[in-house]
Amino acid sequence: MALEAEAARITSQFEFGDDLVNKAVKEFQRQMTEGLEKDGASLSQIPTYVTAVPNGTEKGLYMAVDLGGTNFRVCSIQLNGDTTFNLTFSKVAIPRELMVAKTAQELFAFLAKQIELFLQTHHEDHFEQHVRRRMTMSSPEGFKDEHVFRLGFTFSFPVQQVGINKGTLIRWTKGFDIPDAVGKDVCALLQDEIDKLHLPVKVAALVNDTVGTLMARSYSSPGKTSTVLGAIFGTGTNGAYVEKLSNLKKPLEGEYDTSTGEMVINTEWGSFDNQLGVLPNTPWDIALDKASTNPGIQMYEKRVSGMFLGEILRLVLIDLLKNPSVSFFKDENSSSNDWKSTTNILASSSIYQQWGLDTAIMSVAAADNTPELATLRGELEKQLGIYSAGLDDAQAFKALAYAVGRRAARLSAVAIAAIVLQTGKLTDPANKDEPIDIGVDGSLVEHYPYFRDMIYEALAKIDGVGEEGANRIRIGIAKDGSGVGAALIALVAAGMEKNMSTADYLGELRSTARNLSTVPEDTEATTAD
Ligand code: BGC
Repeated sequence: MALEAEAARITSQFEFGDDLVNKAVKEFQRQMTEGLEKDGASLSQIPTYVTAVPNGTEKGLYMAVDLGGTNFRVCSIQLNGDTTFNLTFSKVAIPRELMVAKTAQELFAFLAKQIELFLQTHHEDHFEQHVRRRMTMSSPEGFKDEHVFRLGFTFSFPVQQVGINKGTLIRWTKGFDIPDAVGKDVCALLQDEIDKLHLPVKVAALVNDTVGTLMARSYSSPGKTSTVLGAIFGTGTNGAYVEKLSNLKKPLEGEYDTSTGEMVINTEWGSFDNQLGVLPNTPWDIALDKASTNPGIQMYEKRVSGMFLGEILRLVLIDLLKNPSVSFFKDENSSSNDWKSTTNILASSSIYQQWGLDTAIMSVAAADNTPELATLRGELEKQLGIYSAGLDDAQAFKALAYAVGRRAARLSAVAIAAIVLQTGKLTDPANKDEPIDIGVDGSLVEHYPYFRDMIYEALAKIDGVGEEGANRIRIGIAKDGSGVGAALIALVAAGMEKNMSTADYLGELRSTARNLSTVPEDTEATTAD
């Protein structure tokens, strides 16, 4: 009983009731406005220089790379122009030592090498033609522009963007820490390494994964409703939305097209309320932050995203294990364990190490509704070296994991609601009864059972949204959104190179019924023009 009562006492500290949710939405809206007005606000509200979203008719063959979490992905994307696409990709884990390398060059050289390998494997013809051409040219730089792949670079960290393919790193997140890169143009860092390998690739666009998700969802989402928000709930969390240019009050450095009257804004909402005015702050949140690589920063992300939820839970469990008045993962003798054994935790269990509890086990806990919680108990063994956990232990684990996950979902609803309210679409008569489309990606929304349901439950309680509004909000997965989206932005960038307005260029592409797969060998184009 003591264990159950103690678990209940802890879970109550993770409750984030409707009043708190509403208060947080108001604060989110305030911080959004502040970020649109000045630099240095908690919500960075970064202008992306992307001024139009696609409608599914765009065509062409593009490349994209994606750096933003544990893996680096290289892909090529054939946009078919009928809301469909074909994606080919390779994926490699980023070696831990490169995430904290001494120099940026070490990391970016590794990325360029992966691009070379991808071209050799998947675009051998193009690659070899290029090498042949290069050998016969007097100058290695002299190859024709149309033979060069336009590459969208998804770089999912806060970047001060000053143009569609230019931006300096503000800070690292998600466990990366290479101080040498901060303040540098990440596109130039990648292009330099690509050029050292003489690859036929031009970094044409710099894209945050949320912006990519927004673009990808717009390209493939059904119906005439355009997508208003792209969001990631994965290792990290963030959102990008379409904002009216008239609301963007802070000065913009680079050039951009004003014809659509809109621009995509990367909110960098992971840093919402770093000052902790409205965010919950339990002793375990405090301990996690203190031991992190970036204390005081990304405070919302540290309560919402996959990289951190497992660690919050782990810290809670460690406190329970240390509590002499409860019997958690220990038995007086085999009679107190429903499987008639005694629980053992291996001394080498990763539960004793920072980041040692993978958030994925929280999904297992949420999904296991069997009377004996046998699946969860099996995972405790496999993943954490906790043998013969009793049913009461597994129940406490499940309740605590649920509390941490539910709080994350309710906090996620805060950001979604604030942005939906900001777009004004819920009350716009021109938009009456239309769905409000949101594209999401990331392990939490994809794999954590009921995460979206818990978001919807909170949305329905938010002033200005309510049941009716929540029913109109359509949250759909945009799988691999960042790669496809980066390709779409590389396409927009190609239009900018031609000095055309985005709307005109998208229009030209949409009306061009050209199938790239039939382009003659010698003139094989890698952009849609
Ligand atoms: C980064 C964002 C990114 C998000 C999701 C955060 O840590 O700051 O730029 O969009 O993770 O990957």
